[in-house]
Amino acid sequence: MTNSLSEKIKELKVSRNSIILAHNYQLAEIQDAADFVGDSLELSIKASQIKDASLIVFCGVCFMAETAKILSPTKTVIMPDINAGCPMANMITGEDVRKLKRDNPDAKVVCYVNSTAEVKAESYICCTSANAQKIVESIKDTDDIIFIPDKYLGMNTAKKVPGKKFIYWNGYCPTHMRIMPQDIERAKQEHSSAVVIVHPECRTDVVELADQASSTGGMLKFAKEANAKEIIVGTEIGMLHRLQKENPDKKFYPVTDKAVCPNMKLTTLEKLLWALEEVKTEITVEKDVADRARKAIERMIES
Ligand code: 13P
Ligand code: SF4
Repeated sequence: MTNSLSEKIKELKVSRNSIILAHNYQLAEIQDAADFVGDSLELSIKASQIKDASLIVFCGVCFMAETAKILSPTKTVIMPDINAGCPMANMITGEDVRKLKRDNPDAKVVCYVNSTAEVKAESYICCTSANAQKIVESIKDTDDIIFIPDKYLGMNTAKKVPGKKFIYWNGYCPTHMRIMPQDIERAKQEHSSAVVIVHPECRTDVVELADQASSTGGMLKFAKEANAKEIIVGTEIGMLHRLQKENPDKKFYPVTDKAVCPNMKLTTLEKLLWALEEVKTEITVEKDVADRARKAIERMIES
């Protein structure tokens, strides 16, 4: 069944002149059906470079597909399930950002890409978990940083950039919040020779217990280069598929199997096939918002 679905997707993908992009947290079979799998930064860069395809099928969550549309406005961007949102992205509005700017007129807004296009449009520069430190350090004309919406990525980044004053927003990822310090302690006891990698969306007390905090792309790099043969992974469990596939000689253990992003799991092979058959659901971003948001995203890509 899965095979025939995958075959149909492959055929239709070619006849629709399309490219399938997928995030590292997608279901294993979606990752295997995609042309490119990556973290938020890699997916943004890829979306800005697509030349030959006219249709982008985005298997991830809404802010990622919106970013692809903003960076490739002449292409059609579709999502197999439009309900795949990111709760963190919905924790702040454009009006909230305008108020933060009014209250902190000397500060620059650094906006995690896990945000709506409207919020990006109000921001000076975007960042991802792969480049947050570098982006904050690139801001030379002020030490005051409004970091939105993820307070944990903000706090974990602030520790590496002590010269800057961070103003946080109370946003967080409900999936990464499920990873607790006790889970790390227990996993370390169970696998005493393993090293620990976690995502910087995790709580600061969780990051403190890890050997490394990095984006999902950074985790793949770390796993490839590490001497350790066993790695405890503190992030959404979809990450385990690529880690294990690309490092068959190593063992990976999730810190907890509770760290599931239900939105990332909404995209299935059936929905991917329907999306290609019917060329839907299309992602649109209002031109004025897209033009302003593009500046913040391109500033990030160019920095
Ligand atoms: P990455 O940019 O590390 O892939 O993370 C995206 C995300 O949504 C994490 O929750
Ligand atoms: Fe959003 Fe968290 Fe899901 Fe990432 S894992 S898409 S931040 S809810």
